[in-house]
Amino acid sequence: MDITVLGRGNIGGGLADLWERSGHRVTRLGRDGGDVSGAEVVLLAVPGDAVEKALSSVAGLAGKTVVDATNLYGGARPADGFSSNAEYVKSVTGGPTAKAFNTNFATLFGQVAGARARPGNLWSGDDEAGDVVSRLSLDAGYEAVRLGNLGMAATQEGLAGVMFSIAQSGLGEFVYRMAPPGQL
Ligand SMILES: NC(=O)c1ccc[n+]([C@@H]2O[C@H](COP(=O)([O-])OP(=O)(O)OC[C@H]3O[C@@H](n4cnc5c(N)ncnc54)[C@H](OP(=O)(O)O)[C@@H]3O)[C@@H](O)[C@H]2O)c1
Repeated sequence: MDITVLGRGNIGGGLADLWERSGHRVTRLGRDGGDVSGAEVVLLAVPGDAVEKALSSVAGLAGKTVVDATNLYGGARPADGFSSNAEYVKSVTGGPTAKAFNTNFATLFGQVAGARARPGNLWSGDDEAGDVVSRLSLDAGYEAVRLGNLGMAATQEGLAGVMFSIAQSGLGEFVYRMAPPGQL
């Protein structure tokens, strides 16, 4: 796939490396923005309070499939009138939108391929984004696990705090897995 990552740091750059290794073509954009019209999917991986600024620095977003990996910390809030960054993204693009990769630690990207069992990657969002999220999760070493539709993105963004609390309560950075009976 032709992927553009908006944000090329720990998450954007880390996933770009993994996806390139899986054969995808990845364009990396930073705070200077750029043009995403050639992308089949855009990963949003900028600081959670920079989403409005970041999207306004990019041309060609209309109708694009966007995978939003952002989190909000320290009391930061989504744009006025929205309960999640992902829903704000959807209001800008009008295209299929998913919240994904925000509940995994970038520091572990290099170890996922060697995991005993494939770790999970929670996502919420539009049905139309499901195939892309499943594929990009697999190609990064994760199994996509759906949490709900885009209305659940706020809940998923809230899980980042849960992840950090678990990590800081003794476990350190970790992966997770969800499996139904028969796949335990
Ligand atoms: N690190 C993790 O393990 C992790 C896990 C899950 C979710 N997240 C979330 O993923 C997002 C990125 O985190 P990160 O750790 O990858 O951050 P990071 O390493 O600091 O990288 C941030 C990237 O965002 C770009 N950026 C900053 N301000 C921007 C703006 N106004 N417009 C456009 N781009 C801008 C930077 O551009 P330049 O390259 O030009 O400096 C940089 O490429 C955050 O929302 C974070 O909460 C992080």
